[in-house]
Amino acid sequence: MILSKYISNQYRKPSGIIGRFIMSRFFEIGNAELNNLVFETLSLTEQDHVLEIGFGPGTLIKRAAEFLSDGIIEGIDLSESMVATALKKNRKHINSGKAKIQLGDIEKVPFENNRFDKIFTVNTIYFWENPSTAISKISHILKPGGKLIIGFHDRREMEKISLDMEVFRFYSKDNISELLSVHGSLNEIDIISKRGKHNTCYCVSGTKINT
Ligand SMILES: C[S@@+](CC[C@H](N)C(=O)[O-])C[C@H]1O[C@@H](n2cnc3c(N)ncnc32)[C@H](O)[C@@H]1O
Repeated sequence: MILSKYISNQYRKPSGIIGRFIMSRFFEIGNAELNNLVFETLSLTEQDHVLEIGFGPGTLIKRAAEFLSDGIIEGIDLSESMVATALKKNRKHINSGKAKIQLGDIEKVPFENNRFDKIFTVNTIYFWENPSTAISKISHILKPGGKLIIGFHDRREMEKISLDMEVFRFYSKDNISELLSVHGSLNEIDIISKRGKHNTCYCVSGTKINT
């Protein structure tokens, strides 16, 4: 039980040497399929201003920065270990101004309204204290026409793994669709699913139509 809580907390907010060197490798390998699906679903254009919430080791920050010739990718993450790892991986893009990384909690939404063309997050919504309020506030920092994408693994599959349910909260694709449409007031809700090697990967997206 104690081990399950420790591991679950490392997923939520990686810390120390274990977080920096072991969890980051774990995320890079174990979450690659879902991260690839989210990146494809983003359909970036070269000018997009993008935010990744909970970037972990910063793999998608790097991919986005390499793609965006005239745009910018920003990232926010709760963990000092992940910020250090992602900074190291993206040093070149940070120095050129194409990537910006900050330590922080997305639930405090430290960005101004109408800032981003696209916002995405992968494997992080399980840990949010108040997802409906967070999604509502996040929709405000999207530009009109902007897109929010949530990548996650399915509730029924995740509940079979021995993780601490006081740390994790799992969702079905219908739960996430409802969060985006009802609390985010987003339209054009789209669900993409892909059977991965171990889990089913889901990407649920919504578009901000109103201003
Ligand atoms: C399980 S890891 C996923 C990392 C990466 N997105 C991936 O799919 O491999 C969760 C990440 O989200 C971050 N995180 C959790 N809650 C957060 C919050 N409220 N605001 C910002 N980052 C958060 C953690 O620090 C951690 O780096």
